[in-house]
Amino acid sequence: MKYITLAENIKDTSVIGIGCMRIGSKEKKEVEEIIRTALDCGINFFDHADIYGRGRSEELFGQVLKENPELREKIVIQSKCGINMGMYDFSKEHIINSVNGILERLNTDHLDSLLLHRPDVLMEPQQVKEAFSELYESGKVKSFGVSNMNRFQMELLQNCLPYRLTANQLQLSLAHTPLIDEGINVNTGWDNGIVRTSGTLEYLRLKDIVLQTWSPLQYGMFQGIFIDNENYSELNNQLQILADQYGVTKDTIAYSWLLRLPQKVQVITGTTTPARIVNAAKAADIELTARQWYDLYKAAGNRLP
Ligand SMILES: NC(=O)c1ccc[n+]([C@@H]2O[C@H](COP(=O)([O-])OP(=O)(O)OC[C@H]3O[C@@H](n4cnc5c(N)ncnc54)[C@H](OP(=O)(O)O)[C@@H]3O)[C@@H](O)[C@H]2O)c1
Repeated sequence: MKYITLAENIKDTSVIGIGCMRIGSKEKKEVEEIIRTALDCGINFFDHADIYGRGRSEELFGQVLKENPELREKIVIQSKCGINMGMYDFSKEHIINSVNGILERLNTDHLDSLLLHRPDVLMEPQQVKEAFSELYESGKVKSFGVSNMNRFQMELLQNCLPYRLTANQLQLSLAHTPLIDEGINVNTGWDNGIVRTSGTLEYLRLKDIVLQTWSPLQYGMFQGIFIDNENYSELNNQLQILADQYGVTKDTIAYSWLLRLPQKVQVITGTTTPARIVNAAKAADIELTARQWYDLYKAAGNRLP
């Protein structure tokens, strides 16, 4: 496993993280198995949100922590808030109430990282600053980041904050590449040259902010995975060639494609299957060549100008 520094005041985090969005329907013992399998592979990072399973995902995870308190110091826990029953809400009151709920459900006294889940157009950065300051000074949250924001939204917020934003969690997979497409197709007049993220990929690299990639195997918005999907036959052929070459499975190669980006990347996998967690962990040990990376990008249906 490889580790990166997400924030100076928390322990280094594995480049593969376990997304907990889909654990809410599991049994407690299955959640414990997910945590222990991850730790056995060197994965110490767990990503939550207050809305996952309407709080059930955090609750189950928290029950495991309560019964196994020694686990807490081995792991880095991140959660998110800012989605409030059909709207986005970065008010001070909502952020603070959300974090209190998160800590109670997770049975922990602090979060290592808190992300604002989706940009709130009505946000007042001053309110976010006050909320973050209260949470930081009380020791409830150690570091702060965002999710699904472009660079200007980040700058608007950062301008007002005494804390460095450490991460931006964005959708990125071989079958969902707007972050990458706009940089490859600058000034082409082609549709994938349309600027959808305002150079956010390059901005994160420039500022040394961690790019956390959500839904690393999905296409569309939770429409399904591209692995073994007949609509992505060329991509699956290319993945299989590399999987055979490296002695791994196709999902491992798909994660290593994300990790090959030349900046700080954390892949947030959503699998709840222990064997697939092991596959994900193996991606940290594979460094694709630049040619392999571009071949996969093209096999996913992209052309180069
Ligand atoms: N910030 C945001 O707005 C945002 C949005 C969405 C998600 N997220 C985060 O990103 C995490 C990952 O999202 P996701 O669950 O959509 O990602 P994903 O890893 O692309 O998809 C996981 C799903 O694919 C299934 N799957 C089937 N074959 C698989 C294989 N070979 N390997 C791995 N999985 C396979 C898994 O099933 P099994 O469980 O049966 O293996 C699971 O249902 C979430 O848990 C959450 O933490 C963040």
